[in-house]
Amino acid sequence: MDFLACICLLQVLLLGSSRVAAAAPSPARALDAMLQDYAYQAFGVRPHPRTGIVYNATVPANLTGVALSAVRLRSGSLRRKGFSRYFEFAVPTGVVVQPYVERVVLLYHNLGNWSDYYYPLPGYTYLSPVLGLLVYDAANLSAVGLQDLSFVASGSPISIYFSNVKTVLAGGSAPRCVWFDLDGVPQFRDLEASNVCSTYRRGHFSIVVNSSEIAPGPVPSGTITPPIPTPAGRSKGSYKGWKIAVGVVGGVIALVLLASLVVCLARYKRDKKLEVMERNAEAGETLRMAQVGRSQAPVALGTRTQPVIESEYVA
Ligand SMILES: *[C@@H]1O[C@H](CO)[C@@H](O)[C@H](O)[C@H]1NC(C)=O
Ligand SMILES: *[C@@H]1O[C@H](CO)[C@@H](O)[C@H](O)[C@H]1NC(C)=O
Ligand SMILES: *[C@@H]1O[C@H](CO)[C@@H](O)[C@H](O)[C@H]1NC(C)=O
Ligand SMILES: *[C@@H]1O[C@H](CO)[C@@H](O)[C@H](O)[C@H]1NC(C)=O
Ligand SMILES: *[C@@H]1O[C@H](CO)[C@@H](O)[C@H](O)[C@H]1NC(C)=O
Repeated sequence: MDFLACICLLQVLLLGSSRVAAAAPSPARALDAMLQDYAYQAFGVRPHPRTGIVYNATVPANLTGVALSAVRLRSGSLRRKGFSRYFEFAVPTGVVVQPYVERVVLLYHNLGNWSDYYYPLPGYTYLSPVLGLLVYDAANLSAVGLQDLSFVASGSPISIYFSNVKTVLAGGSAPRCVWFDLDGVPQFRDLEASNVCSTYRRGHFSIVVNSSEIAPGPVPSGTITPPIPTPAGRSKGSYKGWKIAVGVVGGVIALVLLASLVVCLARYKRDKKLEVMERNAEAGETLRMAQVGRSQAPVALGTRTQPVIESEYVA
C-alpha cells in the first residue's frame, strides 16, 4: 500500500466518523430546529418586526403543551440593557453574543409536559417544566435550519425564577438545578433560592429531585405530572438503544479502519526506509568506492580544508 492509499483511508475514517455523528441529531436538537422555524413564523411577513416586543408563537398540534416565544433585539442593546423580564428568565446587562451579529432573536421554550420526553433524566423527577433560552441570528427571518448562537453572561448570571415548582416532602435530598447544554449532557447545580437557578450560558434548565426521595410519598399536585411510561417514552427508549447500536457499530468500524491505517503507515515508513537504505547502498558503491592501488577502498567525501599557498595571503 502506498502513501496515497493511506491518505484515502484516513479520509474515509474522518468522513465516516463525522457521518456517524451527523446521522442522528438528538430529538431535543431536532425540536430546537423545529421551534426556531415556528418562532420565526410568529414574526409574520413583516421583514422588520418591532424590536423588543415579545411574540408568542403557535406550535404544531403534535406539540400541544409547549410554549414558544421570540423577541428580536439588537445585540448591542442586549449587552447594555439586558432583558430583565423574559418569562422566567431575567437577562442582566453584559450578555455577549458569540459570534457577534447585529441583531438577534432570543427564543424562549417551555416544554411543559414534553419535558420528560425530550430531556429524559433517569433517577430524577422534574419539579418544573424544562425551560430553554437560545439565541439566533435575526438577519434573515425566513431562514430555516439556523445554527443557534452562543452567548455568555460576562457580568452577573442570568437568573431563572421558576414558577409553580412542585414541593417535595422535607427530609429528602435537596432539589437541584439541572442545565442541559446543546449536547444534552445534564449538569447539576445548587439552587440560588427555593425556586431560582442561574446560568451564564444558553441551554435548557429545570429543577429536579432524586426520584427515590419522592417515590413513596404523594406528590402535591402541580403543573407537571410525574413521568408515566407512555408510548412516547418507549419510542424514546428504542431510539436510545438504536443510538447505542449505531455508536457501537460505528466505533468498531472506526477502530478497524484506524488499525489498518496504523499498519499501512508503518508499512509505508518501513518501505521508505528500505528504499533509502537501498539508495544509500547503491550510492556508496558508485561514489564512495574508488580505486586505490589495486584494490577498491572507500573514500571520504568530506571537504577538507584545502591547502592554501601562503603567497596568496601575502599578495
Ligand atoms: C404570550 O404568552 C404568555 C403566556 O405564555 C402570556 O402571558 C402573554 O400574555 C402572551 N402574549 C401575547 C402578546 O399574547
Ligand atoms: C410533528 O409534526 C411535524 C410535521 O408537522 C414532524 O416533523 C414532527 O416530527 C412531529 N413531532 C412529533 C413529536 O411527533
Ligand atoms: C401534553 O398535553 C397535551 C394536551 O394538553 C397532549 O396532547 C400531549 O400528548 C401531551 N404530551 C405528552 C408527551 O404527554
Ligand atoms: C438517589 O438517592 C439514593 C439514596 O440516597 C442514591 O442511592 C441514588 O444514587 C441517588 N440517585 C441519583 C441519580 O443521584
Ligand atoms: C433567507 O432564507 C431563505 C430560506 O433559507 C432563503 O430562501 C432566502 O434567500 C434568504 N434571504 C436572504 C436575504 O438571505
